[in-house]
Amino acid sequence: MTIHRRTVLAAGLAAAFTLGVPAAFAAKPLVIGFSQVGAESEWRTANTVSIKDAAKKEGVTLKFADAQQKQENQVKAIRSFIAQRVDVIAFSPVVESGWDTVLLEAKRAKIPVILTDRAVKVSDPSLYVSFLGSDFVEEGRRAGNWLVERQKKTPDAVLNIVELQGTVGSAPALDRKKGFEEAIAGNAKLKVIRSQTGDFTRAKGKEVMEAFLKAEGKKINVLYAHNDDMAIGAIQAIEEAGLKPGKDIIVISIDGVKGAFEAMIAGKLNVTVECNPLLGPQLMQIARDVVGGKAVPKRVVTQESVFPAEVAAKEFPNRKY
Ligand code: AHR
Repeated sequence: MTIHRRTVLAAGLAAAFTLGVPAAFAAKPLVIGFSQVGAESEWRTANTVSIKDAAKKEGVTLKFADAQQKQENQVKAIRSFIAQRVDVIAFSPVVESGWDTVLLEAKRAKIPVILTDRAVKVSDPSLYVSFLGSDFVEEGRRAGNWLVERQKKTPDAVLNIVELQGTVGSAPALDRKKGFEEAIAGNAKLKVIRSQTGDFTRAKGKEVMEAFLKAEGKKINVLYAHNDDMAIGAIQAIEEAGLKPGKDIIVISIDGVKGAFEAMIAGKLNVTVECNPLLGPQLMQIARDVVGGKAVPKRVVTQESVFPAEVAAKEFPNRKY
């Protein structure tokens, strides 16, 4: 019996080599259940494409579920991945808290969980094996530091800031707010006068900016948006109010998507802090290592830069998302 099974396996491997398929996957493809936040931004679309492409390239069976920005949909998707006995569950959590129960269910089912992009707050860190993504506090700090430097050009002027926050309770919204506040804390001339969520979308970014402009008008000197999409929506609102984005109002955002580079080249956005969505290849590697019994780092931080408008035209041809 054993000999027979080995013979079958060997034949399978030989066939796999002939077909040019990685042998390890030809025998039994790795199955990953991935629950995505949604399709709220240009960044998110690039992230989804990266994950799907990497899975395809590596012969991984990807069960993909779009949560449409709702935590309850992610919980359902994770439970369904457990029921299907996938090899690995990966997800980018819509919000930070409320994951203990479902992650405990995954742990009891002995299915490793990898966080991508966003973090969770859980009582027991062993509920996930690894977290791959950006340092959002640092991104907020970089946005704030850029403004502190910019303020030095007009040292006597008070700059009134309005802030468009990301999704309420999400790690990037909480952390980018924190990092930015930390960076501007020592500067009495930099004042946040309004702060509200725009849910990471263009439509909501525009709507909230319209309300800010209605309430504060020309008092607004700076817009800090937690992502490029909200900044792009807000830029439209600023123009419709008869003001010049990038000049009358300094615009700062995060992500570094192509749309932001186009806005910088057009002189409407002053700086974007990079947040890299191309996490697919690293996710596949971590998943493969976990299943192969290798030790994986608990935290993998993505390497990123800051792109001010001055370098936008030169950098644009190199942008991959
Ligand atoms: O979690 C990453 C953030 O989510 C990106 O900055 C934003 O564009 C997305 O929607």
